[in-house]
Amino acid sequence: MGKSSKDKRDLYYRRAKEEGWRARSAFKLLQLNEQFELFKGISKVVDLCAAPGSWSQVLSRELYEVQKNPNGQIVAVDLQPMTPINGVTTLQADITHPKTLQRILDEFHGELADFVCSDGAPDVTGLHDLDEYIQAQLILSALQLTTCILKPGGTFVAKIFRGRDIDLLYSQLSYLFEKVICAKPRSSRGSSLEAFIVCLNYRPRPEWVPKLELDKSTEEFFEDANIGKSKNLEFLDLPNDERVIAKFIACGDLNDTDSDATYTLEGRREVLDPIQMPTSPPYKQALEMKRRGALVRNK
Ligand SMILES: C[S@@+](CC[C@H](N)C(=O)[O-])C[C@H]1O[C@@H](n2cnc3c(N)ncnc32)[C@H](O)[C@@H]1O
Repeated sequence: MGKSSKDKRDLYYRRAKEEGWRARSAFKLLQLNEQFELFKGISKVVDLCAAPGSWSQVLSRELYEVQKNPNGQIVAVDLQPMTPINGVTTLQADITHPKTLQRILDEFHGELADFVCSDGAPDVTGLHDLDEYIQAQLILSALQLTTCILKPGGTFVAKIFRGRDIDLLYSQLSYLFEKVICAKPRSSRGSSLEAFIVCLNYRPRPEWVPKLELDKSTEEFFEDANIGKSKNLEFLDLPNDERVIAKFIACGDLNDTDSDATYTLEGRREVLDPIQMPTSPPYKQALEMKRRGALVRNK
């Protein structure tokens, strides 16, 4: 789809450019916040998988312009480099590597975060099962990192794809958070399996000290958290069921733009430039090779 048709077909894409957001994803976080008041009282924030940075822009505006919070601090992490954003420390790092956790902790000087979000999406291979597996691993990595850095009482929000075994994830999360909700913002295409888990009031087992180590499996990591085991759950007062169906909430104004609809542009019709071009996109090398005439088509 060309730039012009995308501007017409996806009004969130166009609105993002009009309002100065680097990506249309900004509206997803804004609509989640409208529904759940996620930003109330937050100071220390971690934005995982943050590039090109529209969620960090939303968080920066909230902390520094709306709340005028002198103690506000935002750390944004992505594999890709990010163009600077006011008040946001950007780390080019892999969220699946334990060293990344240490880098974030160093930035916070030992303090814990009130809010961690992850909009992570791996590069798709086109092999459905493999893509689903890699996405699930990325969410687990985000969750592991979150358990090491989130304050009790804090909030975790992450993108998920509602695949076959998603209820197991809800179940695991229910052992760690008081409330787990599956939310679908209006700006997230209805035709996509994408949704967001909103996990409120972090309450890990008090004796559990999560520790990220390179050669530790996810199972070993959560061993003492007793996720999915009922014997140590008295303090959580949860039912013994292993599978949990999270409440599903559609959020955002129903009269607002439909992300699956095609609109006719009223008035101004010019195609707007993106706010922030990718700093180092994966296709950069291919474009350079094409310019040099070094990209040849296989006959
Ligand atoms: C949909 S984009 C995020 C958009 C962002 N929330 C925004 O509003 O601009 C997904 C991002 O996940 C990042 N990502 C995927 N795997 C990652 C990993 N292991 N560590 C860090 N970032 C990762 C990608 O580089 C990509 O920038």
